[in-house]
Amino acid sequence: MTIKTIIEPFKIKAVEPIRMTTHAEREAKIRAAHYNVFLLHADDVLIDLLTDSGTGAMSADQWAAVMRGDESYAGSRSWYRFEEAVRRLFPFQHIIPTHQGRAAERILFSVTCRPEQIVPNNTHFDTTRANVEYQGATALDLPCEESHDTAALHPFKGNMDVEALDKLLAAKGREAVPLVMLTITNNSGGGQPVSMANVQAVSGVCHRHGVPLYIDACRFAENCYFIKQREPGYADKPVADIARELMSYADGCTMSAKKDGLANIGGFLATNDEDLARQEKDLLILTEGYPTYGGLAGRDLEAIAVGLEEVVHEDYLRYRVASTEYLGKHISCEGVPIVQPPGGHAIYIDAGAFLKHLEPRHYPGIALAVELYIEAGIRGVEIGSVMFAHKDPATGEEVPAEKELLRLAIPRRVYTQSHIDFAVEAILELWRRRDKIGGYRITYQAPFLRHFTARFEPLARPA
Ligand SMILES: Cc1ncc(COP(=O)(O)O)c(C=O)c1O
Repeated sequence: MTIKTIIEPFKIKAVEPIRMTTHAEREAKIRAAHYNVFLLHADDVLIDLLTDSGTGAMSADQWAAVMRGDESYAGSRSWYRFEEAVRRLFPFQHIIPTHQGRAAERILFSVTCRPEQIVPNNTHFDTTRANVEYQGATALDLPCEESHDTAALHPFKGNMDVEALDKLLAAKGREAVPLVMLTITNNSGGGQPVSMANVQAVSGVCHRHGVPLYIDACRFAENCYFIKQREPGYADKPVADIARELMSYADGCTMSAKKDGLANIGGFLATNDEDLARQEKDLLILTEGYPTYGGLAGRDLEAIAVGLEEVVHEDYLRYRVASTEYLGKHISCEGVPIVQPPGGHAIYIDAGAFLKHLEPRHYPGIALAVELYIEAGIRGVEIGSVMFAHKDPATGEEVPAEKELLRLAIPRRVYTQSHIDFAVEAILELWRRRDKIGGYRITYQAPFLRHFTARFEPLARPA
């Protein structure tokens, strides 16, 4: 075909109205929300790019499957359908359903981690880091060298630094490192993919040192589509085959089905270790539910089973990756600094470079999030020092995050190109008046995962 426009590969059957608010209304709403976009009422948001997690639109087939849900407490039909759909892509021996990704993380780290141990990851997602730290262990990020330069164009900036991992495992040994994790795609590192070669290399190092490798598989389909597009030898392979190969190098995974499960809730934990699986199921029963539903309704298991089939369709993935790229290209061509190249599920504006007159301690990511909401009712999320700063144990001072980003995550199958065009216009308006945007300070914070509930106060705007 000669037509190049990539269209949404679906028709819209049900619509959900969204509501315009005035500039003055939005100023009042964000003030009442203590300048934290998490504390806004979602009805006051026009285009919600806070997260791609659980916010996707389900297909007609998924809704039909919901009606098929078998709500039997134990051994339900829906569980067997779910298990089969999961195993088709994730060929691990034990599949343990959970209500979402972090429940899988909590169970995994509770049974594997002890205080003082270290868990390396390409880059921990916030809940992953918090769950490791909750066990008293250290969450160590080992991203590849290329990931440090937001502007650098590299096809697999989500990769792990294999050499650093090898050195760590050689120095500390398996006693100190209960497992290694690879997050695909690397969400906190800019939604960047991990190459198959990197997965293989990391797996090789882990197994040489007798340490298991787990995949944080939330966005496995997007990652595998990038492998198909960018890595030699994969162009003709179906994405499902690429996923199976990738998982074959690992010993287990955690998954939030709220992303590439195309469902609104759900997740799972998988492992090849029988003894571990037994302990994990015991914990599951304590807090999530019986191992054939794990905190999910039968109808949720059905929706995920169908979602996992649909998410590897290449028409869908082509549209998904192209529409995210569209947003990135249309703002970066006007000079807006973003993490390059565009990721699979989100565009990450480099708020530190966008608002270069603001120091990290004045939270440029928060400043940009607030300004974008006031300008156009669009909600994004800071991925910077509010989320990831840590205290220097010697001085007690806050050490800023490496990057100050504003993430605009695109819900799956929800917004059309005109919504994205609207977002482009709004961001470019902020870019034109960037010198006048002021910073923030924190007035309240929780002891962990502070970004969800922190309260802020604006500092004086630049003259
Ligand atoms: C990479 C990654 N890991 C884990 C999680 C946690 O999943 P959930 O929100 O389902 O608990 C997320 C959620 O956004 C994520 O992006």
